[in-house]
Amino acid sequence: MAGAIQPLRWDGEALLLLDQTRLPHEERWLRCVTVEEVAAAIREMRVRGAPAIGLAAAAGMALAAAEAAREGRDLAEALQQAGSTLGATRPTAVNLYWALDRAWEVARTAHDPRDAAERLRRLVAELLDRQRESDLAIAEHGAALLPPGARVLTHCNTGALATGGYGTALGIVRRAHELGKLAIVYVDESRPRLQGARLTAWELLRAGVPFRLIVDAAASSLIARGMVDAVVVGADRIAANGDVANKIGTLALALAASRYGIPFFVAAPLSTFDPATPSGASIEIEERDAEEVLYVGKERVAPEGSAVFNPAFDVTPAALVTAIVTEAGVVSSPVGERLHALAGELVPRRHS
Ligand code: MRU
Repeated sequence: MAGAIQPLRWDGEALLLLDQTRLPHEERWLRCVTVEEVAAAIREMRVRGAPAIGLAAAAGMALAAAEAAREGRDLAEALQQAGSTLGATRPTAVNLYWALDRAWEVARTAHDPRDAAERLRRLVAELLDRQRESDLAIAEHGAALLPPGARVLTHCNTGALATGGYGTALGIVRRAHELGKLAIVYVDESRPRLQGARLTAWELLRAGVPFRLIVDAAASSLIARGMVDAVVVGADRIAANGDVANKIGTLALALAASRYGIPFFVAAPLSTFDPATPSGASIEIEERDAEEVLYVGKERVAPEGSAVFNPAFDVTPAALVTAIVTEAGVVSSPVGERLHALAGELVPRRHS
């Protein structure tokens, strides 16, 4: 696959991460060999994007089990501690807790710490493989929804960097390009962390997909001017009623899409669905450092004494979502009512 990126690599002893805080200027790899190193990488957004955060967390659990086996520590206690360290890193992306649950299930059936470590090692490799497969299925289902010559608008980064595979919303864009269906994709820069400008632009350049970078504030005007056929975004958590938490700015896109009558598609693997959360109102929205708003890069832009509110995500009500694209197929509007069709494929969450 041209321009393929493998930003998360697992060799059984270490998690290798392409440090996303350094992109696009530098391709620097991090080698995490302890759960604390993995947790720090998630917290500092060196690895980010809901599915990639989940995969990294699973690797953190495998590393914790291996350490417990080496040092003769109590496995349950070591995994409990690792789970709470990882679980406290970023609260909104439910894939993190989904992955912790998968790790617990696997560890519970092990004969001893060494066996648990081995099973968890294999789990991480399996989850990575599955993510690639589900990304490709999402890309195929989603590309089929777009018209020929599609002009798409997307937000944040939902590519290989965010999933460890092919990408979700950006996977759809890439697949539409491969099929010759894509005219252009408009990419929101996605303040304050600029995932669109730094990461999505980097991925699209590598994949040879035509794009225009826009400031976030331009998006609704492009939609109003008839320059966009569909908005395609990812998700960090989808509640049982179909409400979607995603990068701050997503709700404004959904409102504009609805007002001007274009489809608003959400692309997410089943690990992003959270049947334990009834609606968007109960999703914890991460608030991040004031510095992200006060500064652009290293340059301070706001005067000393400015107070900041910096929610990293927002919630789009299910009623504004035209369809949710998953690896198992497309859930179309009204998504809330139709989500129950997926119920058998969703795994209830135990960690919070
Ligand atoms: O804060 P981030 O960069 O982790 O937020 C990422 C997003 O909001 C993505 O849209 C979402 O995780 C889906 S990634 C396939």
